[in-house]
Amino acid sequence: MTLGRDAIRRWLTVPDASALFAEARAVRAKTKGDGVCLRGLVELSSVCDRDCLYCGMRHANPDVRRYAMRDEEIVACARLARDLRFGTVVLQAGECPALWSRARVAALVRRIKAETGQRVTLSLGERSEADTAVWREAGADRYLLRFETSDRALFAQIHPGAPRDGEHPRLAQLRRMKAQGYEIGGGMMLGLPGQTLESVVEDLLTLRALGLDMVGLGPYLAHPKTPLGKRPPSGEVPVSADFTCRCYALARLLLPDANIPATTALSTLDPARGRRMGFEAGANVFMPNLTPAAYREGYQIYPGKICVVAPEADAITALRADLAALGLRHAPDR
Ligand code: 5AD
Repeated sequence: MTLGRDAIRRWLTVPDASALFAEARAVRAKTKGDGVCLRGLVELSSVCDRDCLYCGMRHANPDVRRYAMRDEEIVACARLARDLRFGTVVLQAGECPALWSRARVAALVRRIKAETGQRVTLSLGERSEADTAVWREAGADRYLLRFETSDRALFAQIHPGAPRDGEHPRLAQLRRMKAQGYEIGGGMMLGLPGQTLESVVEDLLTLRALGLDMVGLGPYLAHPKTPLGKRPPSGEVPVSADFTCRCYALARLLLPDANIPATTALSTLDPARGRRMGFEAGANVFMPNLTPAAYREGYQIYPGKICVVAPEADAITALRADLAALGLRHAPDR
């Protein structure tokens, strides 16, 4: 199916999208079989230099408990990911190059690869071409950087310090990293104040234009301690599990081979059904949170962020049972 602007717009707005979800499941079955990948998410630190208008962890929010994990603790999380047969560990942090220097991250990547054999995905925000080159050299496999919105003006509005014109900085970084040999992941938030339906159509086409290996997208969840959290909702783009899942399904059709997680934000929006709905719309990845429990409350990018899966092995067992009920199973990375 060649999916154009009109078809995308129609699928985003028709009353019932169940045929779209069925099609997305069929495509996933063809490209991924019944395998679901698990990635261990480690939230390295809640220290952030940026003041993104939507994010609860923004620099200007005095209520955040700021923490930073030590290298030893991070490697221990990677060992846990190995013991749970995840195959991949995702290192994510607030943007702070002083804390996550080029050299420190490179050493960390080398150590995790050597000691645990896990694949390493980095998610450390906007960084220089030289930084990401050194990390790739050190063995980093993948990089996640959501572009948040392809609407250039809206992006500049909600990211203080971002250039007002010229290339979208995150699209530019994603292209650079693809050239450096990373598997790249990008995506957007859905329902941002000021976001138009037409821009979401463009976001979806952008996923394909970038040739993404991974797509991370989720609902925007207003945080009361942020400037954007005080603005009225989009109006055009609903914050709903159904709309989010339509976007998963469209992403699956646009990029049949992509790894698409059912995200934490989706589960936060609908704790009872979100994850299952995500898989039923073509998602094939889940990212259990492996951040040590003592740190988790510090990483509140949106309110009520749930730790869908505690690191305990029995919670992972419960997740595996969930997958089985959907006819899916945990398939360890290659
Ligand atoms: N609601 C939903 N998602 C958010 N993110 C940041 N703040 C929010 C929010 N208020 C997402 C962004 C970011 C990712 C790490 O978390 O898309 O890239």
